[in-house]
Formats: sequence, C-alpha cells, structure tokens
Amino acid sequence: MAFTYFFRDMQTIEMIRDIALPTLRSRQRIDFWDAGCAMGPEPYTLAITLRENMSGMLFRNVHITATDLDGSNLFEEIIVKGVYPREQVERIPAELLERHFRQLPEIDSYEISEELRKSVRFTRHDLLTLKPPGKDFGVVMCKNVLLHFQPDERVKVIRMFHDALSDGGFLAMEQTQKLPEECSGLFEQAVPNAQLYRKKG
Ligand SMILES: C[S@@+](CC[C@H](N)C(=O)[O-])C[C@H]1O[C@@H](n2cnc3c(N)ncnc32)[C@H](O)[C@@H]1O
Repeated sequence: MAFTYFFRDMQTIEMIRDIALPTLRSRQRIDFWDAGCAMGPEPYTLAITLRENMSGMLFRNVHITATDLDGSNLFEEIIVKGVYPREQVERIPAELLERHFRQLPEIDSYEISEELRKSVRFTRHDLLTLKPPGKDFGVVMCKNVLLHFQPDERVKVIRMFHDALSDGGFLAMEQTQKLPEECSGLFEQAVPNAQLYRKKG
C-alpha cells in the first residue's frame, strides 16, 4: 500500500540532515537510497531538506535513488514530472513551497523545481530480490516498508542495506522500526533511542 505524504516522519529526515549529512558533505558524490519511496513525496522531502542545508553547487553532488515495487506502474512518471495536486502539498511549509515549487493554477497543482527533480532518479525495484540497485550509498532510508515483511525477510533486507552502504554509511528507519537482534553486529547506533544506525567496519 503506497500511503505517503510530504514532510512525513520528519524526525528521520532531520537526523539524516543533522548527523549523516555533516559526515558526507565533503564527498564528490553523495548517494542516497530511498527504499520504498512510493510516488515521490518522501524522496522530494529529503531533497528539499538537503537543498535547504547545502549550497546549489554542493547539492549537485546529491543523487537520490528512489525505488519501489510500484504495483501501479505509475510512480516513475509521477516522480519524473514532479507535479502534485494542491491538497498533497498542503503540509509543506509555505516558504519552502514558494522556493521549490511552481504553481500550475490551470490544473490546481504544483511542480517541483528542475534542480530537485534532477536529484531524484526512480527505479522500479523489489526489495525481496535482495539485490541492491547500486552500491556505496552514504545513506539508505527505508520508512514504513519493513513492517510489512516477515521477520526473516526483514533481517535479509537489512543485511542487503548493510552491503549497499559505503564504509561509515547510515541506515535510517521510522522510529517504530527497531533493528533486529540478528543485525546488531553490523551497525552501531548513531543516536541514542532513535532509528539511525552507522555501518560498522
Ligand atoms: C506505506 S508506503 C511508505 C512510503 C514512504 N516510505 C513513506 O514512509 O511515506 C510502503 C511502500 O513500500 C512499497 N513496497 C512494499 N513492498 C515492497 C517491496 N518488496 N519492494 C519495494 N517496495 C515495496 C509499497 O509499494 C509502498 O510504496
């Protein structure tokens, strides 16, 4: 089920901004993987948050790989266009909406800026294939997806995330998704009592 909205679970994205980004911002290429991204509000919320904290020049190094099983086969088109109806952008703080979107009054919608659209690339992908869509990610974010999996699937998918991360890369999950005991040797907790983990080794 692809329930999602802009600026959902901001605690997770704010931890990425405050804890992961400072360690990654000097990289020439900063790769993020948003696993189970639905139709785009989540990777675009990440892109807005990063852009608000980086110069335009540094932001060009940001590459967000947004993936989803996408049962509807519509997500790629929606994410590439970056056009969302007015009621879907209402949670976005007004000044950010003003800065990063263009109003399309004729269809009562908003189009996200080309700069942000260029930072997000959608790929259709099933997490249960256990084959990541890339490697050396600085951050893997996976929110409100693993709860739908069986416990053994969750462990295998988190091991795949570990393999897909660069050394010292971060795994970010929603605050109710604890790291399974079987994976505790792979990561260290990046913040006490929060679901942000750093790859060990
Ligand atoms: C509840 S939505 C969460 C969307 C977004 N992460 C958020 O927190 O707002 C769950 C998403 O997981 C995706 N999903 C479910 N099973 C998946 C799988 N095996 N591989 C990839 N994506 C999957 C669904 O298509 C859906 O878009």
